Amino acid sequence: MAATRNSHPDDTFYQKADSFFAANSKIGLTYDDITLATLYSDILPRNTQLDTTLAGGLQLNIPAISADMDTVTESRMAIAMALNGGLGLIHYNMPEREQLSQVSRVKYHVQGLIQDPIKIAPDQLIGDVLALIEEKKFGFSTFPVVNEKGTLLGLLSGHVVKPRYATKKVIEALTPRKAVHTITKKELGKDPIARADKFFTEHLGIHKLLVVDDADHLHGLITMSDVERITLERKAQFKPARDASFRLVCGAAVSATRNAFGELDKKRILEHVSGLVERGVDVVAVSTAHGHSQGVGDTVKVLRDAFPKLPIIAGNVTSAAGVEYLADCGANAIKVGQGPGSICTTRIVAGVGIPQMTALYVCSLAAKKKKVSILADGGITKSGDIVKALTLAQAVICGGIFAGCTEAPGDVVEISGKMYKHYRGMGSLAAMKSGSAARYGHEKADATRKVAAEGIEALKEVCGSVDRVLATLIGGIQSGMGYLGAKDLVSLRAKARYIRVSPAGQREAAPHDVVELKTGN
Ligand code: IMP
Repeated sequence: MAATRNSHPDDTFYQKADSFFAANSKIGLTYDDITLATLYSDILPRNTQLDTTLAGGLQLNIPAISADMDTVTESRMAIAMALNGGLGLIHYNMPEREQLSQVSRVKYHVQGLIQDPIKIAPDQLIGDVLALIEEKKFGFSTFPVVNEKGTLLGLLSGHVVKPRYATKKVIEALTPRKAVHTITKKELGKDPIARADKFFTEHLGIHKLLVVDDADHLHGLITMSDVERITLERKAQFKPARDASFRLVCGAAVSATRNAFGELDKKRILEHVSGLVERGVDVVAVSTAHGHSQGVGDTVKVLRDAFPKLPIIAGNVTSAAGVEYLADCGANAIKVGQGPGSICTTRIVAGVGIPQMTALYVCSLAAKKKKVSILADGGITKSGDIVKALTLAQAVICGGIFAGCTEAPGDVVEISGKMYKHYRGMGSLAAMKSGSAARYGHEKADATRKVAAEGIEALKEVCGSVDRVLATLIGGIQSGMGYLGAKDLVSLRAKARYIRVSPAGQREAAPHDVVELKTGN
């Protein structure tokens, strides 16, 4: 195609989303099918901003979410994601009570004030305390001692929690109340971290500060290491994602549960989500393989009516009509992706699904109209894919990229000298038997008879901590934004220009014609 008379040659070849996807409307395109054109830049990658708003009251400092899968996100992963500025969606393949505790673990993680510290009774033996530390794998050994009414009696210091004192009673070994430093909630004021920081500077060698009320009931514990970590975080470029009370953000997946008659079990769904809200959940995700469906829509409506302000993610869809439907039902952020997942066989088994870039573009049109955000869910294998996804979506959801991390659930297995972790689709037979069948429109009991699994069980090579994986991904995203001269994600979406890549162009994009000594990572 020749450049028209008045247009710049770049505009003919490197097109904006609207003209590019319209010109390619007869073909489904995914990440590797396209590349982004570079643009004049006065932005250094390190100065780019990655914050993103998914809904009123739900802002992340990096646009990355870990998938609600039982081999990806439980509390440890959700904590790591939030500490890095992102979000973890805790999966629902566990009893509802357990999911509530997992959310609590995230909400009460390493905040300035540990509101419910582990307490010890005065008549326990030091040996009991040692056994508790061993059983719960606590990484600390200093505990407040309280009576049955919660009144502070003293502090059991780590110096005396030793096997040689195992037969001594806690009451004989504790530092007595009058020698323990305390502060009242009122004295902590508006900025407890700054107040505690000042206290630790003024009290040489004291590392723990107990919070009490006027009647000397214990209400919390502040540790110097937490205060130092939070003070450091305040200086980091990408701050942890926190709620208004300075707690880490946390999401949880819920399913469109049906009762024995096959009807939507509204009562149970509401009870479950009420429990999550009480624990402080920041967003719930109604997660299913087919979001443009009555069950998902009705679930979203029930939740929207009951919790007018709660951010709701729903999905998955790949059509504009699907986005409109879920937005009209009350969802704030819509998951886009049917069939792109690394463990997914939906396109093979069911013959449906749309390659991800085309799906994202089509969905983005409806999302703009309905003022909702979209999340690019599945199929991301490298940071370049994320940059491409973020030209259309407000954030990405990744499973496989995080499944090999230390923080993912499950044990490491060694095969022929290499270390792996299990990673399975929520539509695999094994996962459906553990509870995720509803996500794929089956009953849990169906998993024992003949149903078509839409996911596989797989292994991921162990890849270290989420911090490390995210550092590499963020570096890549920032590079991409630097190449496009985009200072933030809004500008990235506005500036992106696309072109299709030939099979030879795809080969050219990866290392070629060399003997690789070290991978880029
Ligand atoms: P990945 O990041 O490419 O590994 O894809 C993760 C995404 O795949 C999840 O967030 C889900 O949307 C999707 N997914 C999870 N389990 C299955 C499955 O069993 N079949 C199809 N898609 C799945």
